[in-house]
Amino acid sequence: MIGFIGGTGPEGRGLALRFALAGEMVLIGSRDEGRANEAAKSLAGDAPPGSVRGKANADVAHESDIVFIAVPYSAQRPTLEGLKGFLVGKLVVNVIAPLVFEKGRASAVRVDAGSAAEEARDLLPESTIVAAFQNISAQKLLVPDQSLDTDVVVCADDSDAKQKVMALAEAISGVRAVDGGGLANARYVEDLTALLLNINRIYKANSMIKIVGI
Ligand SMILES: NC(=O)c1ccc[n+]([C@@H]2O[C@H](COP(=O)([O-])OP(=O)(O)OC[C@H]3O[C@@H](n4cnc5c(N)ncnc54)[C@H](OP(=O)(O)O)[C@@H]3O)[C@@H](O)[C@H]2O)c1
Repeated sequence: MIGFIGGTGPEGRGLALRFALAGEMVLIGSRDEGRANEAAKSLAGDAPPGSVRGKANADVAHESDIVFIAVPYSAQRPTLEGLKGFLVGKLVVNVIAPLVFEKGRASAVRVDAGSAAEEARDLLPESTIVAAFQNISAQKLLVPDQSLDTDVVVCADDSDAKQKVMALAEAISGVRAVDGGGLANARYVEDLTALLLNINRIYKANSMIKIVGI
């Protein structure tokens, strides 16, 4: 079971839809169970029947084997502190890019731990943290028949967990997973999202990344 904490936002719903289409069972989490159910219902027309359900965040954390953290960076610390007990021994995938917006321009937020993913590792010492999907466009994920033609850079210190998430990424049509090394590299991937959002403003597009030369 794959679960999404903060799964009612576009990124959580988009990834939930793509994993459901790849044959996975998915739980969308929210602080409010009603909102979670609404978000699950919004995907019902595109996802296989019964593949996406909504639940409160705590139930999602408890019932899922792989737990995605898809809240804004400002909510990461309180959210993970509140769910820590449910996440012991779990594979936790952090998709957070810490950003602020000023006059429509995105900037990366400095994180004391180095990155949102490393902060998550410090907050959840008994979970295995993988950083991935920070550069993938939610808008494109939510259009189910669109092949994405993008790379997903996956960073983790645990090699088995990294391989598992790389395989999951490649279950999405048009995604190639790229081994991004250890969690210490997650900061570069997170920061790149600010650049992509500023490129989007210029080109009125949903840009993503592709690594060449490997
Ligand atoms: N959007 C993208 O294209 C994109 C792409 C790559 C990565 N990301 C990353 O993915 C994460 C989610 O992005 P998003 O655009 O889906 O974000 P979002 O819509 O702003 O937030 C996602 C969900 O987080 C929950 N949330 C919001 N504030 C919270 C708080 N203070 N405490 C606890 N939960 C809170 C909300 O769910 P409930 O109110 O239902 O609890 C909300 O629906 C972000 O960290 C972003 O950097 C986004």
